Amino acid sequence: MFKKLQAKWNVNGRNLLLIIATFAIGGSICGFLGRKLLLLSGLEKNFGWFLLYIILITILWPFCVILVSFPLGQFAFFKKYIKKILKRVMLSRSFVAGINNNIRIAIFASGAGSNAQKIIEYFRKEPHIKIDLVVCNKPGAGVIKIAGDNNIECLMVNREFPLGSDLFIAALKKRRIDFIILAGFLIKIPSALIMAFPKKIINIHPALLPAYGGKGMYGMFVHEAVIANKENKSGISIHYVDELYDHGEIIFQATYDILPADTAETLAQTIHRLEHTHYPPVIEKIVKKQKTS
Ligand code: GAR
Repeated sequence: MFKKLQAKWNVNGRNLLLIIATFAIGGSICGFLGRKLLLLSGLEKNFGWFLLYIILITILWPFCVILVSFPLGQFAFFKKYIKKILKRVMLSRSFVAGINNNIRIAIFASGAGSNAQKIIEYFRKEPHIKIDLVVCNKPGAGVIKIAGDNNIECLMVNREFPLGSDLFIAALKKRRIDFIILAGFLIKIPSALIMAFPKKIINIHPALLPAYGGKGMYGMFVHEAVIANKENKSGISIHYVDELYDHGEIIFQATYDILPADTAETLAQTIHRLEHTHYPPVIEKIVKKQKTS
């Protein structure tokens, strides 16, 4: 548990102890002060008293830990920590109040769009995450109809309107797109777009990266290569997009044990099922986490 906390907060063992001490001392001072103030007020100790006590210690807590963090040398950590909590509270308040704080997603796809379909269906239940746009580069691709059926605008990229051009990036920014989700999008993402959406572009690949990734490795080509090489495992990889094909930091992988009877076609079907199950919830987790951090 301590190791996990150390990694989460990116601190060494000594600082972790001092942070825990700050929480403990700050928390005790805050509890003590809250009680003293209420006793001074002379209020009767009933349900309202406890409610007031909870409100009071919630207000006092940040001040107390910040105060204690000074002598323990942990001010920088707590300043960041409290800022993060406040941001989360403000965000959930604006969600509750219905203020426009939606997370807006653009799906980029080139093919049939079965993943796009599953993502659209999944986020229908989520009022604060909106699939706002589909971007496609292949006239006639199945995903164009999926966008139309779901009343989602579909933007076509081509020579006149290239991916990563200033005009294209401006169009995404104008729509306040927060995240780009690649779902079978077969054009390399240009650096300009990666720079405009740092750590906000996510891809799915139908194999266990770094194996069977890279230029030319997409769709059925991946499954044919996996079967031809008599691999006993395959799976899916969800990763952040960087300048190289199928290369950025891996967020999630799911594995499938290949059966002796599997062919490239049956493997493709199984992998698609895995993608449909895992991609939408993994996206949800990432976008919610990033939006509040
Ligand atoms: C998916 O299997 C996806 O993993 C793959 O294209 C397929 C699109 O299917 N992507 C890649 O190979 C990227 N290198 P879909 O159009 O039915 O969602």
